[in-house]
Amino acid sequence: MKKHILIVPGDGIGQEVTEVGKLVLERIAEKFGHEFTYDEALIGHVAIEATGNPLPDETLEKMRASDAVLFGAVGHPKYDNDPSAKVRPEQGLLKMRKELGLYANLRPIKLFDELLAASSIKPEILRGSDILFFRELTGDIYFGEKGRKNDGDTAYDLAEYSKFEVERIARKAFEAAQTRGKKLCSVDKANVLETSRLWREVVQAVATEYPDVTVEHMFVDAAAMMLIKDPKRFDVVVTANLFGDILTDEASQIAGSMGMLASASIGDGTGVYEPIHGSAHDITGKGVANPLASVLSAALLLDISFGLKEESNAIIDAVDRLLKDGYRTRDIADATTAEEKILNTQAAGEELLKRL
Ligand code: IPM
Ligand code: MN
Repeated sequence: MKKHILIVPGDGIGQEVTEVGKLVLERIAEKFGHEFTYDEALIGHVAIEATGNPLPDETLEKMRASDAVLFGAVGHPKYDNDPSAKVRPEQGLLKMRKELGLYANLRPIKLFDELLAASSIKPEILRGSDILFFRELTGDIYFGEKGRKNDGDTAYDLAEYSKFEVERIARKAFEAAQTRGKKLCSVDKANVLETSRLWREVVQAVATEYPDVTVEHMFVDAAAMMLIKDPKRFDVVVTANLFGDILTDEASQIAGSMGMLASASIGDGTGVYEPIHGSAHDITGKGVANPLASVLSAALLLDISFGLKEESNAIIDAVDRLLKDGYRTRDIADATTAEEKILNTQAAGEELLKRL
């Protein structure tokens, strides 16, 4: 298969982990006889530094012209404590999502058995957890009108959803549930929010097209609690942009570490595959970041954008064996991990490639 992949490392540890993700793609191409070509582009803080724009037109054009994008992270601490900054790295990410029509963000939360001890949740609660989140990614309070009034003393962000937006993400979630445990939990705040009442109404209507899927509706506060109390009760979860952002960071603890979680953003055109962890400037440049989320993002890319299931599984299998052989990056090591089994980013990549 001939495919063109755009590598967009972005900021912070995005650079380090995406390098490993790319090595894995190259190895897969070699092993399975595919021809992958690559290009690179800028986004986020590095793009602001180089061009003044967090998402240069050139990057967007290259994204549109690629078959898939392997993405790193965006963000820089210098903006976090400067609320007045007009140009921010995250604007690049949000604009990319909107421009590419990436309305569905899939975040699989799957625990590798070997990492039971890496989580702060009790093993007997965790064992067997396997959740697939569908986070809506181009609507909600993220993209509604925002501003200040009363001489700047009052601020507002408008949350908005249309029936069409809810319907298309709901369908994706129902379709996924049909291929898994046939259970869908739709998370909202319909006791308070009008957008959530529309959300629930639409999900209930779409549900009639998928009679084989059992649907439940849960308020987001209860869902936040239930994720920790009994993660195994969830199969597929569908929710709005902001709720999904928060719940998936929480759910990352079910998988042991944010460093393990990959995501796929899909929609109308090119799919974008990225770790759910951010730019992590506290460890940037130290070479200790866990590259497995990027590696697993590459696996999702092969599966979802290219339909290469066997290749994708080969990657997941190699990650599994790496962990079974006792290797860990710092974030997933525990008190029982021997010092010589703790790998830096590059060494983790090398051990992984050996197993591919
Ligand atoms: C994520 C991130 C982004 C979001 C930030 C960086 C804008 O937290 O992808 O989850 O809030 O969507
Ligand atoms: Mn987030």
